[in-house]
Amino acid sequence: MPAPSSEFDLPLYRDAQLYDAEHWWKTDDLQFWRELATEFGPRVLELAAGTGRLALTVLESDSHYTGLEISAPFLERAREKLASYGHRARMIQGDMRDFHLGESFDLIFIGFNAFLHLLTDDDACSALRCMAEHCHTETRLAIDIFVPDPLFLFRPPNHRAAAMEYIDPIDGQSVTVTESNEYDPLTELNRISWYYSTAQRPDFLRYDFTMRMFYPDTMDRLLHECGFQVLEKWGDYGRHPFGPEAALQLYLARPAGKEQ
Ligand SMILES: C[S@@+](CC[C@H](N)C(=O)[O-])C[C@H]1O[C@@H](n2cnc3c(N)ncnc32)[C@H](O)[C@@H]1O
Repeated sequence: MPAPSSEFDLPLYRDAQLYDAEHWWKTDDLQFWRELATEFGPRVLELAAGTGRLALTVLESDSHYTGLEISAPFLERAREKLASYGHRARMIQGDMRDFHLGESFDLIFIGFNAFLHLLTDDDACSALRCMAEHCHTETRLAIDIFVPDPLFLFRPPNHRAAAMEYIDPIDGQSVTVTESNEYDPLTELNRISWYYSTAQRPDFLRYDFTMRMFYPDTMDRLLHECGFQVLEKWGDYGRHPFGPEAALQLYLARPAGKEQ
């Protein structure tokens, strides 16, 4: 497997302890993934698996879990969290655009907007084709991304919106994170900056990163072009059908080319 390219060695994903601390609030997807793992497992592959946040919930089902992740510090933290699961859990370092594990899985998934790190159609299709390579006829693929929101994309220049708040695990201080962004509708790339502040230290840390905004019709096209048939498209974690008011795009697909 080729070494991870520097393009994905994002500073944003180097501090695993910070990632876990700042995302304490992200719990609304746990039941959704636990239920999908129970329904479609037991052999589960998560792409862009991060620090093991979703691994822990998947392992509450009887699954055997594999996580693929590009960031070495995140991988290390996930391995620490999963150590007690023995042979039921493993983390592998790799790039979701180019991985070849030589085995198939019952459920392959990519959660919490990680798909938006695939910045071009080519990258998205490379990743989807790698996913297809790890499918058997009954495999289910699940993807969770948000619906691009014009109110978020077309903010006034330099506008700072509130993003998150968390308690620093080292010094116990309250940290607020604000966000500015610049969206290019031609490339559909959203360049985002996160600014970290405490009461005494405004903007003591800044991360810049880019996310591709995938519109629902683009997702339908890419999934089709890259070998998948969409079975369900939900608009929230309660599995309500996708519609104009939906904040999320949740896809459940199967490989189209494999005989049943
Ligand atoms: C928003 S985090 C999601 C992490 C985890 N799935 C969760 O739900 O907490 C995005 C993750 O994608 C990883 N990532 C980004 N590009 C990647 C790539 N090309 N291959 C593998 N992982 C990647 C990052 O390192 C980061 O851990």
